[in-house]
Amino acid sequence: MMDSRVYFSLLVLFTAFFIATHCLPQPEEHAALFIFGDSTYDAGNNNYIKTTDYYRSNYVPYGETFFKRSTGRFSDGRLASDFIAEFAKLPYITPYLQPGYNQFTDGANFASAGAGALAETYKSGNLIDLKSQLSYFTNFERQLIQKLGDAKAKALLSRAVYLIAIGSNDYAAAVSANSSASPEEYVNMVNGNLTSVIREIYNKGGRKFGIPNLEPMGCLPSAKAVNPSNTSACFQALNDLTQLHNKALSEALQKLANELDGFKYSLADAYTALSDKINNPSKYGFKEANIACCGSGPFRGTNSCGGKRLSNKYELCENVSEYVFFDGGHTTEKANEHLANLMWSGTPNIAGPYNLKALFEL
Ligand SMILES: *[C@@H]1O[C@H](CO)[C@@H](O)[C@H](O)[C@H]1NC(C)=O
Ligand SMILES: *[C@@H]1O[C@H](CO)[C@@H](O)[C@H](O)[C@H]1NC(C)=O
Ligand SMILES: *[C@@H]1O[C@H](CO)[C@@H](O)[C@H](O)[C@H]1NC(C)=O
Ligand SMILES: *[C@@H]1O[C@H](CO)[C@@H](O)[C@H](O)[C@H]1NC(C)=O
Repeated sequence: MMDSRVYFSLLVLFTAFFIATHCLPQPEEHAALFIFGDSTYDAGNNNYIKTTDYYRSNYVPYGETFFKRSTGRFSDGRLASDFIAEFAKLPYITPYLQPGYNQFTDGANFASAGAGALAETYKSGNLIDLKSQLSYFTNFERQLIQKLGDAKAKALLSRAVYLIAIGSNDYAAAVSANSSASPEEYVNMVNGNLTSVIREIYNKGGRKFGIPNLEPMGCLPSAKAVNPSNTSACFQALNDLTQLHNKALSEALQKLANELDGFKYSLADAYTALSDKINNPSKYGFKEANIACCGSGPFRGTNSCGGKRLSNKYELCENVSEYVFFDGGHTTEKANEHLANLMWSGTPNIAGPYNLKALFEL
């Protein structure tokens, strides 16, 4: 038998060691996560800006699967960015505009539902376009320097991972407004603006970027609902535009990597990931990849989920885990988890040249 005093001293020592290594704030221990983009990643910023319910989802049944309340996320539960935070052993990253935001060394979320890379996109909605998200990040940087000092702030910013999901709204807005720009011109404008924001983050010290390409937007229930000429098919013009964007995005990132010292990126093929789920739902445990769980009209593609947009009536499916789409424009938590897994640990053909796990470990 161990002497009880020895045992006690060992216990105290062990406890002290455990507290020192596990419980005290140690900002150098992990890479922070900064999130930019649209409703794909908005965890509630739009709750705190002057916009309308059309660009918000802080009402039931959004959020109910996981959070048991609506947070402002456009899904039944977690977003891909929430799963990435989990995989990186970070807490969920808080919307920067949330009153009392105080997450500094873990990161911040600047994403805004409805936002585009172009300032004109859904401008009347008063959203935080990508460039304005960058201004909030500049405020954040100033606050971080005040808290940690110049050197530590810079180290944190260069070790961090920057997730950016943007572009869908630019193309959706262009198609519905019948933009006069040619598809090539428009794609160059979107990628030009995205690239200039990436460069500015790089100039502030950012080195690791995680960027999903665009999903096949023409296959979203909302896109199929407004183009019901052939109700079983995806809206091909929008898919073509998405593919044109994805090709330009891939080239733009490659160019940045050639040009900028230390620039590392992970381009995730969200297009293929969602197409696979739509074409082989059962392979991934889904039963329905054509109709949304929540909404009204054809494919439940009308954006009325929750009854605060377009119509106060909506239908809700019984079992959300059978569905790829939660509402007309957004995937379910289960589909988001599938995508996040590919982004985190996918092989280079689906998440490359680095996957996010590798970026976090760098
Ligand atoms: C869109 O523009 C094209 C060419 O400029 C024109 O032919 C077409 O009628 C327009 N469609 C709508 C819905 O305005
Ligand atoms: C950014 O978008 C604007 C339109 O909002 C466009 O005039 C400008 O040329 C774009 N910038 C780049 C670098 O492509
Ligand atoms: C609708 O699209 C599907 C898939 O592309 C095609 O097989 C079918 O023939 C089309 N139907 C009509 C009526 O055009
Ligand atoms: C809901 O659907 C999932 C996936 O098909 C299934 O595993 C689960 O048993 C279903 N739950 C209920 C209550 O039917």
